[in-house]
Amino acid sequence: MLKDALKRALEKSGYQVRKKSPLYRELETEAAAEIATIRPYTMLSQERLLTLYDQVRFCEHTGLPGCYVECGVWKGGSVGLMALANLRYGRTRRMIHLFDSFQEICEPDVLVDGARAVNEVKKHSTGGVSGKLQPLTGIYDSFGGPGTLEGNKDLLEGVIGYDPGFLQYHQGWFQETLPLVKDIGEIAILRLDGDWYASTKVCLEHLYDKVVTGGFIIIDDYGAYDGCRKAVDEFIRDNGIKAYLSYVDMDCRYWIKQ
Ligand SMILES: C[S@@+](CC[C@H](N)C(=O)[O-])C[C@H]1O[C@@H](n2cnc3c(N)ncnc32)[C@H](O)[C@@H]1O
Repeated sequence: MLKDALKRALEKSGYQVRKKSPLYRELETEAAAEIATIRPYTMLSQERLLTLYDQVRFCEHTGLPGCYVECGVWKGGSVGLMALANLRYGRTRRMIHLFDSFQEICEPDVLVDGARAVNEVKKHSTGGVSGKLQPLTGIYDSFGGPGTLEGNKDLLEGVIGYDPGFLQYHQGWFQETLPLVKDIGEIAILRLDGDWYASTKVCLEHLYDKVVTGGFIIIDDYGAYDGCRKAVDEFIRDNGIKAYLSYVDMDCRYWIKQ
């Protein structure tokens, strides 16, 4: 009775209480050590981490060709999980590409990125909402500061032991680094975690065509920021893409390229 009342009260306030399924618990147990290793270096929810782990495991088991790419790596946690799953299930190493400013995120654009983005800037930063490519000072202070190139190298090459020959760091604003990318080849997993409209759109424009049929396109912030959702919806519509957006948690969605 008390349990039901508590459940109803939580559901009324927008929360969902569910028992973990046996399959979920099985995956959680299998990925436990890897997730524990990268947990201090990521903002991702448990659902997002488990889904990512499962997607890499699938790529390794089926031999889906292509590299792994993340745009928006911060301290490297989600990339680290891809590296660890490759080390565990892959017979060979995959090339992993990391795109990030490796400093604070750039400003959102008040005209497209929505109320949540604007409120976060007001609350955590002295920066603006002009959409300019300039760092939002202080925005990551409550998360232990921005990700750095050195910090990512320490995690991936030092803690995880991934061969540095299979890691490519693209430091700078996506808008400046992506047009310079030439020989990235095929992509098995494209993970976009750059929060804003412009950051998401530019990645889709430069990298989507490289994703192999059957490859994954993961959008971390689809449910979080209006601008990210707008960028994805526009890209899908303008390119006539048939994409069913699979639900991971309240923010994250992915689709499989047809
Ligand atoms: C939410 S964090 C990424 C979280 C990370 N994937 C994790 O595992 O926790 C977003 C990152 O995207 C980067 N970013 C966003 N827009 C960018 C842009 N236009 N150019 C370069 N980096 C960008 C930020 O600097 C930040 O490091």
